[in-house]
Amino acid sequence: MLRKIALEELALDEPLGRTLYGEDGVLLLRKGRRLQAAQVDALRKQTNGAVFVYDEGDEGAASQPSREATGQPASAGSSPHCIPFQPQAAARIERLVETTSEMVSQLAELLLDEELTDVTPFQRASDNLLREIQGDPDQTLHEVLVSQDDRQLAQRCTQLSVLSMSLALELKLDEVKVRQVGTAALLHDTPLFGLDEAQRVPSPQMTAASRNLFRNHPLLADRLLEPVRGVDLNVRAVVRQAHEQLDGSGFPIRLTSGRIHNLARLVNIADAYLTLLDPGLGREGIIPADAMAYLVHHTCEGRFDPAAMKALLQTLSLYPIGSLVALSDGSQARVLRARRDHPQQPVVIRLDASQTIIDLADASLTIREPLNDSAHPRRRLPSHQIGEVMWGLHVA
Ligand SMILES: [Fe+2]
Repeated sequence: MLRKIALEELALDEPLGRTLYGEDGVLLLRKGRRLQAAQVDALRKQTNGAVFVYDEGDEGAASQPSREATGQPASAGSSPHCIPFQPQAAARIERLVETTSEMVSQLAELLLDEELTDVTPFQRASDNLLREIQGDPDQTLHEVLVSQDDRQLAQRCTQLSVLSMSLALELKLDEVKVRQVGTAALLHDTPLFGLDEAQRVPSPQMTAASRNLFRNHPLLADRLLEPVRGVDLNVRAVVRQAHEQLDGSGFPIRLTSGRIHNLARLVNIADAYLTLLDPGLGREGIIPADAMAYLVHHTCEGRFDPAAMKALLQTLSLYPIGSLVALSDGSQARVLRARRDHPQQPVVIRLDASQTIIDLADASLTIREPLNDSAHPRRRLPSHQIGEVMWGLHVA
């Protein structure tokens, strides 16, 4: 059963025993996170002073919190795009990400030990993720990209797989290619599982040897796949080329545009977006809207594929799904769904007691500015930094 609890009942500075959901089904904070006072303040602004949890063993089995139970009016607006998220789906996707990440971690160890003989388990993992994306792409992206603790490598692979497949679907690629890009995204960081955490992300402290190892991880991943049955050649090409940039500034072999596989270009921009949001090693990320503006700039500079960039904009919107924004009437809202045909006007949900869902493409309101989210604090990107290159080996 879903149970409503007051924010005052939550214990500060202790790991959450249950995942917290909003009345609209939006996953607010995942279990295990240590709750800080600033997060409770943020939750107070986003909710009616209460959140929802599943009773033990019941997560995913209960129904959506009823409006009658909460005393709230139906929040969907008149636009057909104003569809609330489903708490059941949120819990199901959460479990899927957990199990996928666990499996990716175990399979990567097997691959590193040269004990994996068949690639089918990776394909099945990306197929399961694909089914969720095909069901509700916006909610899947919200749960996977925004709500996860993405600092763990296996979860990062899962995020990369989901975002890359979403871009492939946006470009209307056939399902074989969508599955290939999803599988390649799960596989391409395999060699990093064998390294200490500090060596998995480029940094100024890295030794030349570690830096070289990082530079070559796509080639090492490809080599590990050589004896494995059932690995498509497209998958191997994407694994090798996921970090190559169109202008030849990427790695490991500085390929240029015409020689980079179309699917690798999708993984490349998805990886850059995730790195900008969460660079790892405790470094502060950039808020999603600024990361998007930054990638548009670098696409114009010739580093990313324009079609991949367009797909990213249409998939997440210019103010990406899950991010907070200030509206032109002074209220605050969270981006709920992308409007493919209106990347600057997504569907949002107000953070006040009304929890009204608004299709901005069908309303007189506009987005005034993106906001930082105290549940996932990141920094704004000053305009003088937009020309800097801040992903891949360039961050070292
Ligand atoms: Fe990588």
